[in-house]
Amino acid sequence: MCGIVGYVGDRQAAEFLLEGLSKLEYRGYDSAGIAVYNGENIRVEKCVGRLAALREKIKDDVPQGTIGIGHTHPHTDCSGDFVVVHNGIIENYLALKEELIEKGHAFKSETDTEVVAHLLEEVYNGDFEESVREVLRRIEGSYSLVFMCRQHPDRLICTKQDNPLVIGLGDGENFIASDIPAIINRTRRTYILNDGEMAVVKKDAIEITNRKGELVTKKVFEVNWNAEAAEKGGFEHFMLKEIHEQPKAVRDTMSQRIAKDGKRIVMNELKWNADFLNNFNKVYIVACGTAYHAGLVGKFYIEKLARIPVEVDVASEFRYRDPIVDENTLLIVVSQSGETSDTLAALKESKRRGAQTLALTNVVGSSIAREADQVLYTWAGPEIAVASTKAYTTQLILFFMLALYMAEIKGTLPEEKVAEFVGLLQQVPAQISETLSDVEPIKTFAKQYGFNEDVFYIGRSLDYDVALEGALKLKEISYIHAEAYAAGELKHGTLALIVEGVPVIALATQKSVYEKTLSNIKEVKARDAVVIGIAAAGDEELEKYVDHVIRVPETDELLIPILTVVPLQLLAYYAAITRGCDVDKPRNLAKSVTVE
Ligand code: G6P
Repeated sequence: MCGIVGYVGDRQAAEFLLEGLSKLEYRGYDSAGIAVYNGENIRVEKCVGRLAALREKIKDDVPQGTIGIGHTHPHTDCSGDFVVVHNGIIENYLALKEELIEKGHAFKSETDTEVVAHLLEEVYNGDFEESVREVLRRIEGSYSLVFMCRQHPDRLICTKQDNPLVIGLGDGENFIASDIPAIINRTRRTYILNDGEMAVVKKDAIEITNRKGELVTKKVFEVNWNAEAAEKGGFEHFMLKEIHEQPKAVRDTMSQRIAKDGKRIVMNELKWNADFLNNFNKVYIVACGTAYHAGLVGKFYIEKLARIPVEVDVASEFRYRDPIVDENTLLIVVSQSGETSDTLAALKESKRRGAQTLALTNVVGSSIAREADQVLYTWAGPEIAVASTKAYTTQLILFFMLALYMAEIKGTLPEEKVAEFVGLLQQVPAQISETLSDVEPIKTFAKQYGFNEDVFYIGRSLDYDVALEGALKLKEISYIHAEAYAAGELKHGTLALIVEGVPVIALATQKSVYEKTLSNIKEVKARDAVVIGIAAAGDEELEKYVDHVIRVPETDELLIPILTVVPLQLLAYYAAITRGCDVDKPRNLAKSVTVE
């Protein structure tokens, strides 16, 4: 998500808008723009690149005026009388856009935000508030929005749905921002908007109403975080914040990709058909680190649901081993940052060999997004902590949806089954929230076992893939030696390392191999390991064989990795805290590896 800022008062708006955007720049932007009313018109200045590029562009001619808004991309209508900034996704923008084009509106971009500006122009009846309400009745999706209108230069109107928005209360001036860090230098007194609330913000008055138009009396929220804590949304570390953002990240990644009837997947970005898919005799998934682990789950999904053979490889291996890739190969690269050099090189090499390429990435406009033939974005929002968390869960969600989409096209899954899976998908955000609601036992385990030097993770099938990710999390941030093993492989070596008191995290959620996993758990218990079992709710069996159980909500065993990884992320986090490690910036590691 990009930053939103707004100002109305007696000072020069541009000053605050640039300052506010700079406070949110740690999220990484590819462009910046501000819109300021100069007493006659709204002047919009935008620039591709970092905020510094915009500052440079306007340094000799800063837009003058005391009301304005800023974002990566402020959008205007045809007349330039309306400007809108928006975070989130307008799900029905294509239908609205068609309608507006028919009515003669000329669009300058492909974005969903621009539709909102034109829609406001279309419905505007002289009453700014009422017209915005009409816009809100017509749009669907998640958003935080700020509107500016040339005919009403004393006010900004803002509203939100599933995206954050705060109003900073000043003295004879007021501020709007998507996030607290943007305003913390100016005021600590805020109103935090709730979903569906709309605020009319003037320099000396703020009126907040609910969806029905009734006045809402809000309590002032005093921010007592320092600037650093504010960036972390009050959490102690970015990693913990990002772990807790997963329900929203997953919801955002799904939104727009589920059909209105809730029974099918739509991928407007792809528009594949049976001919296109039948052309491929193989899918390659190539990635590094956590993204590679997501790829392992992706393979399982695509093979199981769409019945296409998939190979998964780490990018640094793939690119140097003369892979068998040609025009009958679909190459999927996965990368949170979209900048990992080995992944980018693997992508280029595969294109050279004639493969069709698809990128799953989180960063719009990243090198990998630009290089790939097609892109699916995980809408996880910026991930700052080096250890990847919400990127992984959103990659899993996206792979699952992609596999369902492929299955629908290929006819490998009955319609009812697809509908059932789509129904289950929609429960995942709430199920992650439930998993996050009780962290105390995990904290206790982390304290109890956080000083062990070795921890083992075991599981079969998808549980093994999640075990790999759990072990990586622990290694990365707590520096504990952690090894994940396919439970059935234990007796081929690793069992020799299992002695009294060694912690073993055993995932046992996959029904088809449940009994087999149980027998592996018995093997480690017989060597006096301390076993923490990870099970689905309703499993009464596992607790008989392990020392502790962590339960996650029940769902289909294909989807359960998106839930079981959450306690493993938390376990790694609290183990790192127990050991006093620098969680967000672990030693020797970088967020994005852009060199070989
Ligand atoms: C680095 C990060 C990992 C990440 C990996 C791949 O090693 O520390 O968290 O999983 O790179 O990054 P990407 O941006 O390509 O997903």
